[in-house]
Amino acid sequence: MTDTITIKKSFDAHVHFRQGAMLKAVVPLTAAKWSRAIVMPNTEPPIETVETAVTYKKEIFAAVPKGNPFEPLMTLYLTKNLSPAEIEKGMADPPAGGCKIHAVKSYPYGATTNSQWGYRSILEAKDVLKKMEELGMPLLLHGEVHVNKSGEEVDPYEGEQLFIQDVLPRLLDKFPKLKISLEHLSSKIAAEFIERNGKAGQLVATITPHHLLYSREEAAPKPLLRCKPLIKTRADRERIRALVQRGLPFVFAGTDSAPHPESKKFSSPGAYGVFSAPTALELYAQVFDELAALDKLENFLSVNGPRFYGLTGCEETITLEKKDWQIEEPVVTEEGVRVWLLGDRQHGVGNETLRWQIPSA
Ligand code: NCD
Ligand code: ZN
Repeated sequence: MTDTITIKKSFDAHVHFRQGAMLKAVVPLTAAKWSRAIVMPNTEPPIETVETAVTYKKEIFAAVPKGNPFEPLMTLYLTKNLSPAEIEKGMADPPAGGCKIHAVKSYPYGATTNSQWGYRSILEAKDVLKKMEELGMPLLLHGEVHVNKSGEEVDPYEGEQLFIQDVLPRLLDKFPKLKISLEHLSSKIAAEFIERNGKAGQLVATITPHHLLYSREEAAPKPLLRCKPLIKTRADRERIRALVQRGLPFVFAGTDSAPHPESKKFSSPGAYGVFSAPTALELYAQVFDELAALDKLENFLSVNGPRFYGLTGCEETITLEKKDWQIEEPVVTEEGVRVWLLGDRQHGVGNETLRWQIPSA
């Protein structure tokens, strides 16, 4: 039995840092365990220009503990204001304001937290997508259909399936060279699509810990586990587990760590988003251990993500140890706001025990 595992320090391909006191509380938690992270742009207001990304990056850097080499990798939000010229600026070499833009994120209007600035249909953004395809800027997809062609809201459990069947094939057809990442893949149909069509450096998918750990039956009554895309059935979870178990080079970690204050998470309707920065790495190790696939963990956490973004791997390492622990306390911001974590013993499905830990953390 393996009791410790040492891997290259990991790359989080999808994290939400927010702003202000929340940012100050959560950035050090990601920086403690991860080497780099792709930072989501759904702040208020959204990050839709290189200039605002420069300011946002400075705010993040100011929250990284001194001497910690953590690097935030910035993205832009695909809003109606985002122009092809801004894509060019984001890919300039040397980068404008020292801030390269690593990807553009698309949120379907109305589907999730701060998605009110997104397009109803991504295909409307054709000029920007054309420029991204031309220059090699990755597109990160929140791959859900939220409203159908008649303008009616679709069943949120069906949104990803509709996207995979209807929108994604058209997108791939119109922009065959566009680099695409299907973020937080959550369904059997999406896992099958990626397994068949995925290609390193071209069409990839990120996977969260919560979509690997829980099922719809368990998650639906628990505000802590409320997130988009919704956590789906046990069969979906098993298919996603089978996908990561294969160790494919186009599948990798994106925690989607998305902190919300306790007051927003536990009111009705609760905010969408699971906060996992302090526990995600350990929970991924737990799942890979359960799948007898610890030999695939390093590529999933630390190699495949940087490769998609054209970055080299990280030489620093991190060691995980197989040892049980439990979480009972929230993270508290300097304003006294409490944020509960994925893996919490009371607010999850009950008596959660984490099986791996990072001894030095
Ligand atoms: C995210 C958030 O809170 O910003 N929420 C979520 O449920 N995943 C937004 C997102 O990635 O959809
Ligand atoms: Zn997200």
